[in-house]
Amino acid sequence: MTEIDVARFPAHFRWGVATAAYQIEGAVMEDGRGPSIWDTFSHTPGRVLAGDTGDVADDHYHRWPEDLDLMVELGIDAYRFSIAWPRIQPHGSGPVNHAGLDHYQRLVEGMLERNITPIVTLYHWDLPQALEDAGGWPHRDTAYRFAEYAHQVAEVLGDRIALWGTSNEPWCAAFLGYASGVHAPGRTEPAAALAAAHHLNLAHGLATQALRSVLPSDAQTTLALNLHLVRAATDDEADVAAAQQVDDVGNGIFLGPLFDGAYPPSLIQRLEGITAWGFVRDGDEEVCHAPPDVLGINYYTPTLVRRRRGSSDAEVSHAHGESTASPFVGCEDVEFLQPPGETTTMGWAIDASGLEELLLAVHARLPHTPLMITENGAAFDDPLEDGRVRDRARIDYLAGHIAAVGRALERGVDVRGYLLWSMLDNFEWAFGYARRFGITHVDYATQARTRKDSAYWYRDLIESARQG
Ligand code: FCB
Repeated sequence: MTEIDVARFPAHFRWGVATAAYQIEGAVMEDGRGPSIWDTFSHTPGRVLAGDTGDVADDHYHRWPEDLDLMVELGIDAYRFSIAWPRIQPHGSGPVNHAGLDHYQRLVEGMLERNITPIVTLYHWDLPQALEDAGGWPHRDTAYRFAEYAHQVAEVLGDRIALWGTSNEPWCAAFLGYASGVHAPGRTEPAAALAAAHHLNLAHGLATQALRSVLPSDAQTTLALNLHLVRAATDDEADVAAAQQVDDVGNGIFLGPLFDGAYPPSLIQRLEGITAWGFVRDGDEEVCHAPPDVLGINYYTPTLVRRRRGSSDAEVSHAHGESTASPFVGCEDVEFLQPPGETTTMGWAIDASGLEELLLAVHARLPHTPLMITENGAAFDDPLEDGRVRDRARIDYLAGHIAAVGRALERGVDVRGYLLWSMLDNFEWAFGYARRFGITHVDYATQARTRKDSAYWYRDLIESARQG
């Protein structure tokens, strides 16, 4: 196992865990919650492995006190959770559903009582179905609806949450949702996916304005991007250009508008055959130009590419599920290769050096932006034997990646925290309950929680970091 030099982590570094509403809450019909695109998608035959749905999930909606107590036992000081938009606005617009918002008030109070810092995500993919019926993220109005919802939540919870995240992995929401269709709403329309990406950027900008208009001045904003660490298979010019192309549609499409107030010209130009970009209206890029106070980075695995050379067996299927359509719009001339080395049960190559490389690259591009690892973790088959889960492979994965964060810190990158994905085994989107990312095992038949060996390992690490 990789040694972690805890002295590299500053005293204010936050050690936490992350989850998302649809993946853990269950209680989908309770307290006036409306349907989301994930309810519709998971109930559509053939969309999710084994027909699994989030109807019950971890029943966290009812069991949150027990789950927060577990966090206290592990010494966790920050919990990144998401608010289900359809609990607040069951149909995506109009007045607040107070029963839904009350739930999150109780949850946040529960965290504060336990000295756990709440980190909120306003959008982790559960778009109210009514908004999808009106056109979804490719439809401009969705961005304005999102800002309205953000405002409603912040008005009530604003004084109790220090770090406000707008959306989680807008790349997945746009391209897995609307291009490859492996995620809800399951559409395969490349041009619509680009419009979705733009409206997610716009939504971030508008929501940031709405949040800043109500939040106390010391509250901070964030946004979690699954930045792709793109590597070219060789240093051949054509392969390097292929990597740049993937970087544009994987990263630049969000980093550009957010931090520079403009889409990368190379991206605009290359995709002109797919869209005329008419959805980017005058003044939009200024609104999108809303750099978060802390940039959240979700990292799991690197991306290895080369210029397509005819047909090939070497290619991997795209990360989050099976689909013949690629989420990398406009990259038909790029091959995605399986990186070398061992994989998790997602088929994702394990490469902690990728995290260090990514942090250094982001820091070089955005030297004044503090970063936070908002997700990192691994799925393995975790048998529960004699009341114990001996998840050595997960501990190795976590140790390797946390050590990589430590090396980045040492090299001057301002990383504020590490939020492990995930606190609990949960509904892993298109894979349903067949992939376990938790440091806590969940028996879905009984809802019994069992700390895996990795949970104890994380507890000990946090403790030694605090002493260190
Ligand atoms: C990320 C998602 C998160 C979880 C992990 C494994 O893409 O943000 O909800 O599914 O992958």
